[in-house]
Amino acid sequence: MARKVIIDSDPGIDDAVALTVALFDPRLDVVACTATGGNVPVEQTNKNLQALIERLDPPRLPRIGCGAPADSGTPTDARHIHGADGLGNLNLPVPELHHQHRAEKIIHDEIKAAPEDVTILALGPLTNIARAFRRDPTLATQVGQIIIAGGAINQIGNITPAAEFNIYCDPVAAREVFRLPVTKTLAPLDVTRNLEFALDLIDDLPEETTRAGALLRQLLPFLFRSHRQQLGIETIHLQDTMALLYLTDPDLFETEPMAGDVETQGELTIGATVFDRRIASTWRENMDVVTSVKAEPVRERLRQLLRNAGEAT
Ligand code: BDR
Ligand code: CA
Repeated sequence: MARKVIIDSDPGIDDAVALTVALFDPRLDVVACTATGGNVPVEQTNKNLQALIERLDPPRLPRIGCGAPADSGTPTDARHIHGADGLGNLNLPVPELHHQHRAEKIIHDEIKAAPEDVTILALGPLTNIARAFRRDPTLATQVGQIIIAGGAINQIGNITPAAEFNIYCDPVAAREVFRLPVTKTLAPLDVTRNLEFALDLIDDLPEETTRAGALLRQLLPFLFRSHRQQLGIETIHLQDTMALLYLTDPDLFETEPMAGDVETQGELTIGATVFDRRIASTWRENMDVVTSVKAEPVRERLRQLLRNAGEAT
């Protein structure tokens, strides 16, 4: 039976790749997609999510939830990587947004509708997820698991020297989610950086004549260009897609249980993830952390999933 999943994202090009793959993977039942602010402000991610789903037109339409600005964190964005609109400056047409539901309500309702069966895949700042569990703490006993794309173990950050972007955007929310008594897995930057994609990924995308292919053939060249121009590297990382693949193909990854928390106040370190790995550690383990990836098999699996998405569109 397909696994029920709620995808909370801040589209974002790597979010868009993950959504494209997930919405056509028969192993998944994407019951809802919710937008959170991050790569671009939440007003824009709300539009981007709606536009992507409209454009991809999957066989089963997920419920859509709109985000609202975070209560904590330093306003920032990743427009230099994803474009002014967050989606490679495509300025996708946005359908009229009718009957908008708040993201935290959708998350709440979908977990309640299928207790213990729903996985949350968190591909952006954790604002919506923290709000949903704050609003109803009983969700903690009813959610299946949470997989989080974010944080860093032994690595330098990607938004500050110390912090990874998704955690930095809303560190208070991230701390709340880290502390939830829920099964959680973190897919951190350490592993993202061991999973590079070269330009030949574009050659293997579905044909231009398919909806998935047409979209990704417009988006991915922008991401390669911005990585070259802004970061000086010829390859791209797809953090969000990696987290999705951990959900669908966990045998391609290794994890370790760890005790993790988030720095919410440091002048230089706000948003950094901190793990107690002392020999005589005193913190309780509260999550599994992805520590290694079988890079070539994951790249091959992604190509295969993209082909499937192409065939379905
Ligand atoms: C994360 O930050 C965002 O730019 C990406 O979409 C990804 O979720 C990488 O740190
Ligand atoms: Ca993201």
